[in-house]
Amino acid sequence: VASRSAELPASTRARLGILISGRGSNLLALHAATRDGRLPAEIAVVISNRKDAAGCERARERGLPTVVIEKGALDRAGHEARILAELRLHGVEWVCLAGYMRILGPTLVDAYPQRIVNIHPSLLPAFPGRDAQRQAWEYGVRIAGCTVHMVDRGLDSGPIVEQQALEVSDAASAKELAERLLPIEHELYATALRRLLTETWIVEGRRVVFSKKEG
Ligand code: GRF
Repeated sequence: VASRSAELPASTRARLGILISGRGSNLLALHAATRDGRLPAEIAVVISNRKDAAGCERARERGLPTVVIEKGALDRAGHEARILAELRLHGVEWVCLAGYMRILGPTLVDAYPQRIVNIHPSLLPAFPGRDAQRQAWEYGVRIAGCTVHMVDRGLDSGPIVEQQALEVSDAASAKELAERLLPIEHELYATALRRLLTETWIVEGRRVVFSKKEG
């Protein structure tokens, strides 16, 4: 029932920390999903590693606690220690990367084992890294897509949670492909996270295995 999770008391809703570096459209999509009952979760804090990220303003407009933690002169461990302190301060249970443009190190990955997820705009393992839609389009793929995966210390390399494919039309440009993928990303991220929060699952090797649904 769509409204059920929205009615859950706050204590039973997973506390999410969202890490961004840019415009924050996936952040907004996750936020919408927490508000309309698709996602039994609440956004406890938004953290950006860039003070000029458009997503910061959009998060603040929605009343979400929003913190900028730039790397500056810190090394990776020092930067991540600050982020981790902020996540813990807000009681974060799950970390969602949403256009966060840094590879995570052990400080964060080991603090949230199997509790950090990312959305990537390609059918992994094809086209990891930056500008995946352009990489896919320039390669000439007929089928593109996006992936929600758990985050390990590699580049877009953790176990896959969900994928959604999209046919690339002959007329498509890289820009058009990215535009067509974006709403699919938004939907897939909420769906994948919902599954992780509401179903029983284990990670077997590279495989996320879902078993019985609750309720
Ligand atoms: C998305 O395409 C996402 O898949 C990738 O970075 C982009 C972020 O966009 N990881 P936004 O900041 O969520 O709008």
